Amino acid sequence: MLDELATAGRENLDPVHASQYDSKEDARAVDEVELLVEWGLDASSLVVDLGAGTGQFALASAAVCERVVAVDVSEVMLDQLRAKITRAGVTNIDVVRAGFVTYRHQARAADFVYSRWALHQIPDFWKSVALTRMRRAVRPGGVLRLSDIVYSFDPAEAEERIEAWCATLPAIAGPEGAWVRADIEEHVRDEHSTYSWLLEPMIERCGFRIESAVRSSDGFFAEYIARAT
Ligand SMILES: C[S@@+](CC[C@H](N)C(=O)[O-])C[C@H]1O[C@@H](n2cnc3c(N)ncnc32)[C@H](O)[C@@H]1O
Repeated sequence: MLDELATAGRENLDPVHASQYDSKEDARAVDEVELLVEWGLDASSLVVDLGAGTGQFALASAAVCERVVAVDVSEVMLDQLRAKITRAGVTNIDVVRAGFVTYRHQARAADFVYSRWALHQIPDFWKSVALTRMRRAVRPGGVLRLSDIVYSFDPAEAEERIEAWCATLPAIAGPEGAWVRADIEEHVRDEHSTYSWLLEPMIERCGFRIESAVRSSDGFFAEYIARAT
C-alpha cells in the first residue's frame, strides 16, 4: 500500500502551516456550495470530502446538506477543522483521519464526492485507485467535484511554463505567511500533479462521465464535475 503520510506533503503535516492555512488559502467554499446546489446538493445529501484539510468546504456544505464526512491524512489539518466545528457547534460533520486509498466508506452511498487541491499528493497509479474508491462510495448518478493543480500544456513546453509559474510568486512571504516561489518549486519537485490529458481519461475509466471541465488559462489548474455512471 501507498504510505499516504509519506506523500501527504511536508507542509500539510506542519502545525504552523495548518494554523496559517485559512489565511493563506481561500478555497472559495461558498461559491463551491452554490455550484453544487445547482447540481442537486440539498438537505438530504451525503457528502464525502477527501483531503478536506481545515474544512472550509466541509463547514460551508454542512450548512445545506444532511451530513459531511471530512477525510484527511493530516492530524494537524484535522485539528484545525475539529476546533472550528466545536466553535460553530456543528453536529453533522464526521471527521475521519484516513487517506484517499485507506478511507473505507461505511455509510450509505454518498450523493457527492468532493476533493480540492489534494489528489496531486499521490502518484498516478494511486490516483486511479482513489478514483475507483470514490466511484464505489458514490451512488450511480452521484456527483464528483474534483479540483486540483493539473497541467494542461504540452510536455515540450513544460520547462518554460513551470519556470513562468514559479516566477509568479515572491521569494519571501508577507506577514500572513502567503504562498512563495519555494511552495511551487516543492509542488513540482515532490508532488504528483499530472496532465489533464492523462487525468481526464482516468476519471472516465474509473466510472465517471465528465460533465464539465474548466482548465485555467495559465495551464495549471482544472476543475471537473463528473457523474457516476
Ligand atoms: C492544499 S490542502 C487542501 C485542503 C482543502 N481541500 C482545501 O481546498 O482547502 C491538501 C490537503 O490534502 C491532504 N492530503 C494529502 N495527502 C492525502 C491523502 N493521501 N489522502 C487524503 N488527504 C490527503 C493534506 O493533508 C491537506 O490537508
